[in-house]
Amino acid sequence: HLTDEELLADPVEKIAEVGGTRHPSIPLPKDLFGAWGNSEGIDLFDRAILKTTADAIAVAPVPHVGTAGGSEVGLAIAKAQGAFPAWNARPVEERAAILERYADLLEANRIELMAYAVKEAFKTIPDALGEIREAADFCRYYAMQARGILGLRVLPGPTGERNELRMGGRGTWATIAPWNFPLAIFTGQNVAALVTGNTVVAKPAPQTPGIAARAIELAHEAGVPADALVLVTGGPEVGAALTDDPRIAGVAFTGSTPTAKRIARSLLEGEDRPIVPLIAETGGVNAMIVDSTALPEQVVADVVTSAFRSAGQRCSALRLLILQEEIAEPILEMLKGAMQLLRVGDPGDPRTDVGPVIDDAAYEKLMAYRESVRSQWIATIDVPAEGRFVPPTAIRLNAIEELNTEWFGPLLHVATWPAGELTKTIERVNAKRFGLTMGLHSRIARSAEIAEAKAHVGNLYINRSMIGAVVGSQPFGGEGLSGTGPKAGGPNYLPRFCAERAVSVDT
Ligand code: NAD
Ligand code: ALA
Repeated sequence: HLTDEELLADPVEKIAEVGGTRHPSIPLPKDLFGAWGNSEGIDLFDRAILKTTADAIAVAPVPHVGTAGGSEVGLAIAKAQGAFPAWNARPVEERAAILERYADLLEANRIELMAYAVKEAFKTIPDALGEIREAADFCRYYAMQARGILGLRVLPGPTGERNELRMGGRGTWATIAPWNFPLAIFTGQNVAALVTGNTVVAKPAPQTPGIAARAIELAHEAGVPADALVLVTGGPEVGAALTDDPRIAGVAFTGSTPTAKRIARSLLEGEDRPIVPLIAETGGVNAMIVDSTALPEQVVADVVTSAFRSAGQRCSALRLLILQEEIAEPILEMLKGAMQLLRVGDPGDPRTDVGPVIDDAAYEKLMAYRESVRSQWIATIDVPAEGRFVPPTAIRLNAIEELNTEWFGPLLHVATWPAGELTKTIERVNAKRFGLTMGLHSRIARSAEIAEAKAHVGNLYINRSMIGAVVGSQPFGGEGLSGTGPKAGGPNYLPRFCAERAVSVDT
């Protein structure tokens, strides 16, 4: 490990070493993904800005943003509805170009936005950087997709008949975002709805209104009309006022499974209410299965990244490690050692691997649960006494079935499976009915084929970490209790925001 001086002198090296980010050894086309490579990579360009960012974070203010009341929600919807016809009538090329300008502005204002991500959401610096990149990638990717999808499509028909399929906006969408990707997910939802011709009332999580407000300002600066994208802030009541309103033409929601179910129910209320689409991306009880052919060093590195990066506060994070019985103890010994190297502390310090959890309620819930399973601890580490630092902890289970709750923090559960039962083990995980991410570490080609055929998840990761989906390469989203699909950052996302109209003319 590097000394403190070396780390501070060269934080990028540290991040590449322990942060689990994918170094851009797989470069993506620059015209699509911009000069920054891809959503999660760290490149040389960052070296110059990381220390500056750490310094900027120390002094950057986070703007105070008030909470909307019910009448403000109503007003916001009325404004966005009024803006819909003109925005939807604009050529798709104009809307796509605005998204590309928006991506440029997000990158140009990255230091300020990263500072907000660190101060409001307690993101580490690499994670804050990932926010900017993913948000910009969503803008550029959806701009490119929209140009293809929304162009006029002429369909076949008999002589004397012209058939066309036209795609455009549905009306005003409600976008509802979580705090754990306060810029990336928030922006991705908004721009997907906008580029397809919809107008948007956007509600960020109550924990992260400042970064959302700045993101909306930049969207307006890029050319989105003020009334086509309207911000409302607040918690569940404001969200419910939005989704309860029958003028809403669709809801794009990312958050917990119980909230998604509540929204789904509310969208069905009211006899006269139109039937509108709900895109819900929710949580998971994500498992990684490891067999005796896996490379132990790689397994341990990928487990640490997947379970503990972002303090385990990613929907994609590893919650349940399932080790083949024969290799369980040696892997756990290595894992204990690797966990001791994690630095837990101030998220604004470039050396930090694991920051605090989001708020007091999350801290208390996680700590109470962790304490309740104290007799099952396999490994844990010391953390600073002051602050909401949940110690990364590995917890032993007697059976895969014992974990059915998404503990949204750095708590990793560990179970074992007997050799020869891979299919059965995957089915036991499927039985939880979540379906977000799953990992497999194996060097047996047949085992990979079994996982591909049997795993009921939206994102299957083989011989790598389970977090950090890259826009355009790893479309992200789950099934079952984990979401409705379609997948964000994938080719099938935008059509769900569209109204499709077939026009047939007898010529
Ligand atoms: P949450 O469900 O508590 O809140 C999400 C959003 O919904 C917030 O903006 C909140 O104010 C709003 N909300 C709450 N109640 C509402 C209601 N009745 N009507 C309308 N809106 C309402 O989730 P959270 O704690 O902010 O986020 C963490 C959860 O998000 C985890 O379960 C995580 O797995 C999930 N998540 C999923 C993905 C994904 O892509 N699948 C990504 C990130 C986070
Ligand atoms: N897109 C995020 C990840 O893959 C949730 O970690």
